[in-house]
Amino acid sequence: MCGIVGYVGFRDVSDFLLEGLHRLEYRGYDSAGIAVMSGDEIVVRKRAGRVGELSQFVKDNPVKGKIGIGHTRWATHGATTDENSHPHYGGNGEVAIVHNGVIENYDSLRRKLQQLGYVFKSQTDTEVIAHMIAHHLAEQMKLEESEPSVESCLRAVNLTIDRLKGTFGLCVLFRDCPDTVIAARSGSPLVIGVGKDEYFLASDASPLIGYTKDVVYLADNEVVVLQPTGMKIAHRTTGSVRPSIQTLDQVSADIDLGDYPHYMLKEIFEQPTTIENALRGRLDEEEATAVFGGLNITAQQLRTIDRVVLTACGTSWHAGLVGEYLLEEFARIPTEVEYASELRYRNPPMGDRTLVFSITQSGETADTLAAMRECKRKGHPTLSICNVVGSTIAREADGGIYLHAGPEIGVASTKAFTSQVTVLTLLALFLGRMRHLSYPAGKRIIKQLKAMPEKIEEALKCHDRIQEIAAKYCGFDNFLYLGRLYNFPVALEGALKLKEISYVHAEGYPAAEMKHGPIALVDEKTPSFFIVPRGGIQPKVISNMEEVKARKGAVIAVACEGDEEVARIADDVVFVPDVEEYLQPLVCAIPLQLFSYHVALMRGCNVDRPRNLAKSVTVE
Ligand code: G6P
Repeated sequence: MCGIVGYVGFRDVSDFLLEGLHRLEYRGYDSAGIAVMSGDEIVVRKRAGRVGELSQFVKDNPVKGKIGIGHTRWATHGATTDENSHPHYGGNGEVAIVHNGVIENYDSLRRKLQQLGYVFKSQTDTEVIAHMIAHHLAEQMKLEESEPSVESCLRAVNLTIDRLKGTFGLCVLFRDCPDTVIAARSGSPLVIGVGKDEYFLASDASPLIGYTKDVVYLADNEVVVLQPTGMKIAHRTTGSVRPSIQTLDQVSADIDLGDYPHYMLKEIFEQPTTIENALRGRLDEEEATAVFGGLNITAQQLRTIDRVVLTACGTSWHAGLVGEYLLEEFARIPTEVEYASELRYRNPPMGDRTLVFSITQSGETADTLAAMRECKRKGHPTLSICNVVGSTIAREADGGIYLHAGPEIGVASTKAFTSQVTVLTLLALFLGRMRHLSYPAGKRIIKQLKAMPEKIEEALKCHDRIQEIAAKYCGFDNFLYLGRLYNFPVALEGALKLKEISYVHAEGYPAAEMKHGPIALVDEKTPSFFIVPRGGIQPKVISNMEEVKARKGAVIAVACEGDEEVARIADDVVFVPDVEEYLQPLVCAIPLQLFSYHVALMRGCNVDRPRNLAKSVTVE
């Protein structure tokens, strides 16, 4: 949520900042801006609207320099106007800052600063930080009767953040220390790219790809001073930190659109590969189990686990629901799925032998991180299932499993969902084989998992058919998504996808629960998507389809290849390959992802950048 970039070195900074903001735009796209050290002043260019509009503005009003910061905004405080866009000046232009996060005590700080004579130009919480830094700097200059030095700038930043309540990743330029950028984090991610005589800074690694492979992930409560000649990191309480340089293994192709018109479509079509990547090296055919490299927990400890809590938000929470069914079926471990935003403030009884998994694509979701920290504080082993390598959750968890799905840039999550489900299946196999699951059962699961990339490839062949269905239904404003057992979470996920990118109201429900309320919504204007592949209770779901038909509701069915009975009842049917029930979420999610994609396109929506949303929600 909100993207930040920064640079000190020898390049034309505007180019780097704008390119970086383009790459970070998925984090927020209400407005964008840059601040550049140009001569002896800080020049700000900012605009409400997309990064593309800012780029044009900078092209028309160029600004040259080699040190600068930039921001793409997801609005929290204040409307999406030019004034509320970042960067914000502090004082009379002595500093400029960009900020990701929320300052909870901004109102009282603002009033104090106003009493001191500071004039606010925006409604943001961020401007408070800018003026406070300027104020502390000015106070020091008065005392020391000297020009600002790096030390005094750093002190001003530290004095300011000592007074902030809330979360921040921030990056500051100083007019009178023109070769310096100071950045700090508390709750919002920042990564530093290390080059030769240059340093890069960003909210995640994507702007650094192609510039450097050496990165340092800033930890909470760390502050960094960047100059072309070097960087110094200090923890706010423990002092100087020796940077731990890690290698970034992403390449430019990972973030290129290739021949696809949108990232979402690219990512949907990557799923045969991403599922293969999630499985790679993790299947032990000899022992009929799964293997994981980074759990950092002994087999003995795992055998004593008597409860699993899966915590997540959004799509990752839906994957968690599939995980609950998998873990209970294969490992017979009681499992609960908790919204991270609830778990962080709840205090459910959790015994000593409860294992907590945070499921997250980005590894930065504020609620998931807070829930994980809360569980850690209480002594539970906390593991993560995460896509972004080096993200905060991945680093703070005791151990975990990476998805290896590559960057997911479309705001609506697609490939991360199927990778999460794949990893959860592996986990259920692994924990199951430590307990009740037999060798032949383990062998069978492995065989079926190995076939999944091919099955997904087959499922993707429904693309043309889905386009026809989307064309028929794209004008409807309400949808129901109904499925049972493993396909109930798929129904929730299908409805979420449609809401997120098409702005069409959709509700996901367990098919049988429909008669306890949602059936009242059914009429000729409310089509129902039934996820009804073959399986034990398919006849019951078919009865639910009949109930909808009897009330004049159109039925669109996702069914197994060649299922004539479903095809006869449904108004429209899309076929997916026949797989075991516990693997059905993987194939059934595909047509629903494609449906929301095409409906969004047909309704003229921005598929990759849906309104009001952000890919990575780093505020509460
Ligand atoms: C946001 C995104 C969703 C995502 C959710 C959780 O709401 O728009 O697509 O599912 O955050 O994100 P995470 O990165 O923790 O999986």
